[in-house]
Amino acid sequence: MHISNSITIQHDESDFTTLPFVPFSDVEKTIGEEIGDGAFGRAHYVKDSSPTRVYKITKFGDISSNESRICKIAGEIGVGPAFHRAFLTDTCWKGNKEEKCLFIEMDYAGRPLHKWRRALTKSGEEYLSEGKTIKRIYGEKELFYCDLFTKIKMLAERNIPYSDTNAGNIIMPEPGSSEGLKLIDFGGIRISKDCKEAATTVLESKTNQKWMQKFTKLPKLSDKSLELIKWFTGSQPDVGDKAPVIALTFKKADDVVTKDVEEKKVDQEFDDGQVARQLMEELDMAYARGLAAQLEREHQDEAYARRLQLQGEEDERGLKRQRELEDLDMAYAISLQDELSNKKPKK
Ligand SMILES: Nc1ncnc2c1ncn2[C@@H]1O[C@H](COP(=O)(O)OP(=O)(O)OP(=O)(O)O)[C@@H](O)[C@H]1O
Ligand SMILES: [Mg+2]
Repeated sequence: MHISNSITIQHDESDFTTLPFVPFSDVEKTIGEEIGDGAFGRAHYVKDSSPTRVYKITKFGDISSNESRICKIAGEIGVGPAFHRAFLTDTCWKGNKEEKCLFIEMDYAGRPLHKWRRALTKSGEEYLSEGKTIKRIYGEKELFYCDLFTKIKMLAERNIPYSDTNAGNIIMPEPGSSEGLKLIDFGGIRISKDCKEAATTVLESKTNQKWMQKFTKLPKLSDKSLELIKWFTGSQPDVGDKAPVIALTFKKADDVVTKDVEEKKVDQEFDDGQVARQLMEELDMAYARGLAAQLEREHQDEAYARRLQLQGEEDERGLKRQRELEDLDMAYAISLQDELSNKKPKK
C-alpha cells in the first residue's frame, strides 16, 4: 500500500510525555468568544488572531491522550485545519479547579455541515436537508463522498481510524470553492496497530457506515470512487446505469449488520441527533427568552414591592404625625381646660 507521506502515528505513542506546560493565567487573556461547547470539550476563538485561530479545549485525560498528535498529523496532510501548537494548563476551566486542560491551537477552518444547513436555507424555505446542503456546496454528492472517504483513508493509512463523522465534525468549504472539507475532533480515537486494522475500524462506526451506504447507492460512480469503496469494503459495487445494488455487510465487533435494516436505523439515529441538536439550540433561545421575561417580571415585582413599602412607610409616618397632632390637641385641650377652670370665678 502506498502512503504518500511518511508521517505515521505509532500504536504506543501518547501526548502525556511530550506536551509543554503553560500556566492558565498566561493563557486566559488569549481566550476569545466561544464557538461550540460539546460533550467532551469546547472550542473558542483565539483572541485577536489573524487569520483566525481556534482553541480546542478538553479536560486532559486518557480519552484525549492522542488528540493533539492526531490533530497535528491531520493538519500536516491537509485533512484537518492547520495545527499550531498544543499544551497543558494547570487549572481551572469553568469550575474544574484540579483538572489539567489540553489546549490545541489550530486554524479556524469554517462552518461545519450542520451550520451550513442553516446558513444556506433561504428565507421562507424549508430547513435544508443534509443531502441538499451537500449538493449546494459540492454540486454533485459523489464529490463530497469522494472527498470525505479520501481524507478518512489518508488518516487510516497512518493508523488513525477516524470514526466520528457527525455533521459537527465535518467542516465544509464555501459553496463552489475548490477547497475540500476538513475533519476535526480527534478525541477518543484509539490508534490501530496497522493500516488494515484502521480501515476495518473505520467501518465499525455508524456515521461512517451511513456515509458509505449513501456513497455506494449513487449511480454511475467514477473509477476513483469505486476504488475508494473497494479500499474500505473489500467489494466493489456493480457498475451500471442504475444505482448499484451491492450486498454491503459491515463487520462489527460482535455482529454483522446488513444494509437495509441498519441503514434505516442509522439514518433515523442521525436525524434524531440533528433534530435534538436543533431543539437544544431552540430550547436555549426559549430558555433565554423565558429567563429575560422572568427577570423582567421580578424587576417589576420588586419595583411594586418597593412602592408598597414606601407607601407603607409614608402611611406610618402619616399616622405617627396624626398621633402627635392628636397628642398635641389633647395637651392643648387639657391646658385649655385647666386655664378655663382657673379662670372660673372662685366661690
Ligand atoms: N478548527 C476549527 N474551525 C472551525 N470550527 C471549529 C474548529 N474546531 C472546532 N470548531 C467548532 O467547535 C465545535 C466543537 O469542536 P469539537 O467537535 O472539536 O469538540 P467536541 O468537544 O468534541 O464537541 P462535540 O462533542 O460537539 O463533538 C465544532 O462542531 C465546530 O463547530
Ligand atoms: Mg465534535
